[in-house]
Amino acid sequence: MINQQLIQRAAQDILRSKKTIAFTGAGISVESGIPDFRSVGGLWERFDPEEFAHIHAFYADPAKVWLMLKEMFTLVMTAKPNPAHIGLAELEQMGLLSTIITQNVDGLHQAAGSKNVIEFHGSHRTLSCLKCNTTHDGTSLTIDDLPARCPRCSSLLKPDVVFFGEPIPPKAQSYSFRESNSCSAVLVVGTSAVVYPAASIPIMAKQRGAMVIEINMEPTPLTGQISDYLIQGSAGKIIPAIVEEVKRQR
Ligand code: APR
Repeated sequence: MINQQLIQRAAQDILRSKKTIAFTGAGISVESGIPDFRSVGGLWERFDPEEFAHIHAFYADPAKVWLMLKEMFTLVMTAKPNPAHIGLAELEQMGLLSTIITQNVDGLHQAAGSKNVIEFHGSHRTLSCLKCNTTHDGTSLTIDDLPARCPRCSSLLKPDVVFFGEPIPPKAQSYSFRESNSCSAVLVVGTSAVVYPAASIPIMAKQRGAMVIEINMEPTPLTGQISDYLIQGSAGKIIPAIVEEVKRQR
């Protein structure tokens, strides 16, 4: 059951906020059919991130890492935005959400119509050849093309997503920190908030006096410390309810 009082409070906070951003994680895409990482049945339950998602693992045995990547690509290729992605895009169109900083690499915010999206952990849209230093388009790949190979030297390509042990793309990091330092409210949606430096985004916003509104299935390390309040439940129901309430109060 969604807490109606908190939905009304979130709508008020969004309408009062001079600049609102969103910080999203894998939980926002679960209702699009993409499992998250750390819930029961999540990706890291089946693939140990140290063995499948660390850059050293990719250098050591790219074919093994592609076993996990192929599963992720297959899910991402068929996934569609859900009401949570669509609701955030609507808030942006209403001029009430200025930026989405996402940890996700699935491109679903853009597919839902959001224009100002920062991909803190990169995206599947391009892949790099670590051997001949070339970048390749990933948007036209089909499942039969996986694992993807470099057309020039036929080495296994690496998707331009941030593996553990890799730096955050500098522009994404600086632009995200600028946004979190200048917002007056941040919607934190579907993240366990345990991976840094991404998880410092809501903390920086809080330190600058922003309102931190958490929307998540369960409490996280932010809850009660950084978040002003947690609206507990599924993003696919809570976000649209907030958007409807904003329209009612406007
Ligand atoms: N609605 C709201 N929250 C949800 C939903 C849902 N439908 N489904 C799951 N959640 C919550 C889970 O309870 C969990 O707290 O979303 C959170 C997802 O947490 P993680 O699986 O840890 O995903 P995320 O926080 O995005 O992980 C951060 O870790 O492995 C790396 O690079 C990867 O970007 C990822 C980073």
